[in-house]
Amino acid sequence: MSKTDNREIRVAIAGLGNVAAAIVMGIEYYKNVKQEEKYQAGLINASVGGYLPSDIKIVAAFDIATTKIGKDISEAIYAEPNMCHPIILPENMPKSNALCYPGPISDGCYQTKDSKGKIIFDTYNYFKAYNEKDVKPSNITQVLLDNKAQILVNLLPVGSYQASRIYAQAALDANCALINGIPEFIVSEQVEGDRDWVAEFIKKGLPCAGDDIKSQVGATIIHRTLAKLFLDRGVIVNDTYQLNIGGNGDFYNMKSEERLTTKRKSKTSAVTSVLPYGDKVGCRIGPSDYVPFLGDKKICYIRINGTTFGGLPLVCDMKLRVEDSPNSAGLIIDLIRQTRLAIDRGIVGRLDSISSFSFKHPHIQPSSDFEAKKWVQEYIEGKRER
Ligand SMILES: NC(=O)c1ccc[n+]([C@@H]2O[C@H](COP(=O)([O-])OP(=O)(O)OC[C@H]3O[C@@H](n4cnc5c(N)ncnc54)[C@H](O)[C@@H]3O)[C@@H](O)[C@H]2O)c1
Repeated sequence: MSKTDNREIRVAIAGLGNVAAAIVMGIEYYKNVKQEEKYQAGLINASVGGYLPSDIKIVAAFDIATTKIGKDISEAIYAEPNMCHPIILPENMPKSNALCYPGPISDGCYQTKDSKGKIIFDTYNYFKAYNEKDVKPSNITQVLLDNKAQILVNLLPVGSYQASRIYAQAALDANCALINGIPEFIVSEQVEGDRDWVAEFIKKGLPCAGDDIKSQVGATIIHRTLAKLFLDRGVIVNDTYQLNIGGNGDFYNMKSEERLTTKRKSKTSAVTSVLPYGDKVGCRIGPSDYVPFLGDKKICYIRINGTTFGGLPLVCDMKLRVEDSPNSAGLIIDLIRQTRLAIDRGIVGRLDSISSFSFKHPHIQPSSDFEAKKWVQEYIEGKRER
């Protein structure tokens, strides 16, 4: 039987953190959604070309935290330091019969050197990574093949340059499509000195989408929409900031400015690209602090300082408060089904419509998100190839 003979969409996840936990719980939460139920709180599409959330099966996951590896995914998603709001309580989550495997550690967490200059993995007690002397990292390609995975979703921590590429290679070797949820530029552009990953996915006859998930109603989409509003209504944006604080693992990891370069680029370009004079705008965007007691709640402050009629000032201040991880899970549940449509239709390489709509750093940055939404609809209906 070929991998795509039935409706089941077989997905593997690299990084079983809070976003992954929200996806797994969300599949259970929306398991009874029907084709005709159009307006479901939290889902952009109940049905994507006939595929429902219940068609998604998470068949394997990879992580490096000792609390998660070796466990059934249904159990591992609740293990520390995960803290995603329990949309489904642990006692109501059915066993998945799919495992969380130890992935290669690589640069998935901070690295420091010991007194002899040897690299050691350091998680600063936020969580404990397995010891490579005691645990052998699994062969990712083999796990993907053994579990007949069709799609690999990358949800590693920001700054995982090498690790993301190890998983992308494994996806290629195991004939899996790739959804790259993090700000590593693999699908959207070819980084200097890096391989042309999109060409490799094309060569293998596989689709890919990315990079860096844009949440459903999150800081990026609100900031973009407001900036576009200023543009369309004739108000010049002089400077703008977007400050984000949160208390989850993602925010903890992003305390390190070195790991953040691509995240800042991805978030900043998502906003400045809306304005034709974007390179002249004073702009500061990014994660601003880790506030442990906020847990998975994220708070975002946006200010846009503009000049309007008669050279007068116009300032917009906005505050968003949201559960962080579930805010991107709904989009990923759509992306998985949209990517499966590409597999069904034999479409290979970068999926531009869904990348432009669902990622902060796509290859084609749309000037309007409403336009990108139209492209996705046309793609789902088969009126647009990619
Ligand atoms: N939270 C959001 O709404 C949002 C939005 C856009 C993008 N993202 C990105 O998605 C990614 C995941 O976010 P999260 O909130 O789930 O983060 P998280 O820190 O909760 O999860 C990351 C997981 O990856 C694991 N990991 C680290 N190195 C690994 C390796 N080498 N192999 C396998 N697993 C490894 C960690 O142990 C952890 O469980 C981050 O890069 C984040 O920036 C999140």
